[in-house]
Amino acid sequence: MDNNKTHYYSRVPEVNVKIYTIPESLRKHLYIFKTITGVFSFKKLDLGTKVLIEHMYIPKESSILLDLGCGYGPIGIVLAYESPQSSVYLLDINRRAIWCAKENIKLNLPRERKNIIALSGNYFNPIKTKNLRFDGIYMNPPLRQGRRDFLDLLSKIHNNLKPNGYFQFVIKKKMGAAYILKYFKDAFPNENIEILCKRSGYWVFNCFD
Ligand SMILES: C[S@@+](CC[C@H](N)C(=O)[O-])C[C@H]1O[C@@H](n2cnc3c(N)ncnc32)[C@H](O)[C@@H]1O
Repeated sequence: MDNNKTHYYSRVPEVNVKIYTIPESLRKHLYIFKTITGVFSFKKLDLGTKVLIEHMYIPKESSILLDLGCGYGPIGIVLAYESPQSSVYLLDINRRAIWCAKENIKLNLPRERKNIIALSGNYFNPIKTKNLRFDGIYMNPPLRQGRRDFLDLLSKIHNNLKPNGYFQFVIKKKMGAAYILKYFKDAFPNENIEILCKRSGYWVFNCFD
């Protein structure tokens, strides 16, 4: 990673601050997202994120869910809204993203929800002392910083899931969705991967035991 430049995945982006508002109807509910320069897709909801949100499986029963690399929080906030019994963690390395995610939690979810937690840090680091295992992990991965980082992350997912847990993620076909499918099957022959949908040039995957 080039640390001299500001990216959406920088810890502390150095671009000037400008705030945007994105109204978006997702799974038949209207959300208002506050976003800020220096955060992934701050002008409009990313199409891959939208395809994932519209097709991801969301448990109705009480679960522990994780939006990994949450950006300003659309995936985790939809999970929290659609699964009111669940605890939802939103994690991102980018501190501006976490600021937005916290604002968007306040804007879009009832104040009494105490079990929606947004933390900044490198992947699972912010929760490593909590000894948590998730029922579901959801992700639109940061492939712009290189595919290797995501392939390395895949090997860490299993240890952070409960038995019967699942990992759902979206990949743009042109960013190597077919390659990642083959890589997963070769690298983790004892785990299962299925394609939940192929829409608008994006593939949504579900990995499970
Ligand atoms: C493709 S964006 C998706 C953001 C958000 N989930 C969405 O769909 O709008 C990937 C996110 O992963 C975050 N990210 C990149 N590297 C990370 C790391 N090492 N640990 C945690 N988050 C990271 C980026 O800051 C970015 O917000």
